[in-house]
Amino acid sequence: MTTTVKVRVPATTANMGPGFDCLGMSLDIWNTIVVEPNSSVSGDEIISISGEGRDSLPTDAGNLVYQSFKRIYDGLGIPAPAVRLTCENEIPLGRGLGSSAAAVAGGLLAGSELSGARLSSKRILELAAEIEGHPDNSAAAILGGCRIVVSDGDGYLTEPVNVPDELKTILFVPDVPMATDEARGVLPPTISRQDAVFNIGRTALLVNALASGNLKHLETATEDMLHQPARQKLFFPMKNIFRAAMSAGALGVFLSGAGSSVLALARDREYTIGYEMADAAMKSGVDGAIKVTKPTQLGAHVVGQSVS
Ligand code: HSE
Repeated sequence: MTTTVKVRVPATTANMGPGFDCLGMSLDIWNTIVVEPNSSVSGDEIISISGEGRDSLPTDAGNLVYQSFKRIYDGLGIPAPAVRLTCENEIPLGRGLGSSAAAVAGGLLAGSELSGARLSSKRILELAAEIEGHPDNSAAAILGGCRIVVSDGDGYLTEPVNVPDELKTILFVPDVPMATDEARGVLPPTISRQDAVFNIGRTALLVNALASGNLKHLETATEDMLHQPARQKLFFPMKNIFRAAMSAGALGVFLSGAGSSVLALARDREYTIGYEMADAAMKSGVDGAIKVTKPTQLGAHVVGQSVS
């Protein structure tokens, strides 16, 4: 008897401007992972990948999805079964869209399901943050929706923030990636009280705008002094792309996670906003793709389990 598990995991945007390391939101862009017990595969045949990362991601036991899958069995103190993993990836890599968080969340959920351990989402979040280090992406990837996440000493506390149904997310995804380590490395170790107050007020404004559906202050609510100014040094067209999005009718705009994607929030004019962002980037010598998408309430979930 063979049990196959299929899971889906969403892309995520983190920070959302001022909520550095504390806010994340899942987006309607998905990776699908199928895990099937198979004792005849080994070495670099364990994983087969289509879509994003098919030419660059490891296909052996070093793959992050597999490592995360195996982490569940390590925690249970039993050997992981021999499996074949099939990954269909829609989430671009290294573009601030939570591809690593999705790989970890997907691997953990698949392991939790296949092993029968059925861990709570709280425990999966703790493991994900331990492996990947970015709970803002992980909370949104695992639980879905827009999420506040804070470390509470022992683990993480996360609460959902309602997001208006009408809200669209428009991404400009540059052809060039931005490594999260490098994008964290440029951040100053301390900030002034003035900048802290700037971000605290805007984070509160942003959460209130989304939760109440009153979006009139989103432009101010998505401003940030904590990470974007430093990151612009790695991605100089950022401000021009922001300006182009706002002039084209966006309600707010920010660097997605640690970059390099830029995410605009809007009620309408999605394709104009996307086109204008891409045009501004191109004028600064950066090519890329536009993705018009929307937030999703769904986090990582099991699509099906079949027994044959
Ligand atoms: N909050 C993290 C950062 C997200 O901005 O570095 C990393 O994906």
